Amino acid sequence: MNSGEHLVAAEFRTDDAEDVAMRPQTLDDFIGQHHLRDNLRVFIKAARGRGDALDHVLFHGPPGLGKTTLAQIVARELGAGFRATSGPVIDRAGDLAALLTNLERNDVLFIDEIHRLNPAVEEILYPAMEDFKLDLIIGEGPAARSVRIDLQPFTLVAATTRSGLITTPLRERFGIPLRLNYYDTEDLVVIVRRNAALMGIEITDDGAAEIAGRARGTPRIAGRLLRRVRDFAVVENAGTVDVTVADRALSRLDVDALGLGDMDRRYLRVIADNYGGGPVGVETLAAALSEERDAIEYIIEPFLLQRGLIQRTPRGRMLSDVGFRHIGVTPPAQRREQFDLLDDADPEGERDV
Ligand SMILES: Nc1ncnc2c1ncn2[C@@H]1O[C@H](COP(=O)(O)OP(=O)(O)OP(=O)(O)O)[C@@H](O)[C@H]1O
Ligand SMILES: [Mg+2]
Repeated sequence: MNSGEHLVAAEFRTDDAEDVAMRPQTLDDFIGQHHLRDNLRVFIKAARGRGDALDHVLFHGPPGLGKTTLAQIVARELGAGFRATSGPVIDRAGDLAALLTNLERNDVLFIDEIHRLNPAVEEILYPAMEDFKLDLIIGEGPAARSVRIDLQPFTLVAATTRSGLITTPLRERFGIPLRLNYYDTEDLVVIVRRNAALMGIEITDDGAAEIAGRARGTPRIAGRLLRRVRDFAVVENAGTVDVTVADRALSRLDVDALGLGDMDRRYLRVIADNYGGGPVGVETLAAALSEERDAIEYIIEPFLLQRGLIQRTPRGRMLSDVGFRHIGVTPPAQRREQFDLLDDADPEGERDV
């Protein structure tokens, strides 16, 4: 992978630490996701008014869109305590029991990567979420007995990038499931401007627009691109980020006009060159690209689908005309007719909640 690919990979990297310090702290500070934010505001206000714990919340959506940020905001807006852990960290039922019994009334327990919870731990979570009770088996063999412990009412806030991997009984216990969508460019412009202000970077309107338009709909990537462009601006433009510096820097870093990186373009090219534009199955693509199927479905494809570069059909993935043109290939005329017939095939759950 080259530097461009890393730059537009939405997953957290250690050099994003600077970005974490710029997380919005309140719902008002949080930019974009308007629909989700309005709903959340109502639920939080109602719970506070009743003095109850907020119903359990599940944030799901692609990496870098603000799930962890929102989890912290929820606790802050509730005026509640915040404890954070993650699915793979909770090894045994006892670990979760220790966390749950230490919660105070109406606290928020945040479990990141909830899809990676061990099934034995998940079982403990059901009665805890439903009735604020903990059923534990103490001891082993004939001496084993089960005890039921009352918990303080609490709110479980969970996050996942792989909502399809969450079991149905767990999913059904979240009263408030919320999907985060890719940000539109206007919201990303506001985010880029806000980050620039916090970092003391001079930025012009067209400079902010250029970075926002190439951030793959993702605030984490917007922050990262801004930091990289800043370095170029310091060397080439007395520190000011304008459209010329931004464009030159991002092109040099291999982030294209739509914000696609090397991996995205490889994906499009494989469908065009090896499979005549598709349809091609995801397993075949995963093998051709030496990538995990999971990464293709949850990280690469959602953005390409959203931008209309590819389409999911019952027979596999197909490149759209836009997709062909983006990689500089003329779509074969015959295939185009066939593609039009499939145009309204359901894009499988890529819709808003
Ligand atoms: N709405 C927003 N406004 C401003 N900045 C944002 C917003 N959402 C996210 N960010 C920035 O993007 C970064 C990534 O957000 P966050 O860590 O919350 O994403 P995530 O969805 O939890 O990602 P992952 O799935 O990898 O855990 C944050 O450090 C924050 O600075
Ligand atoms: Mg997160």
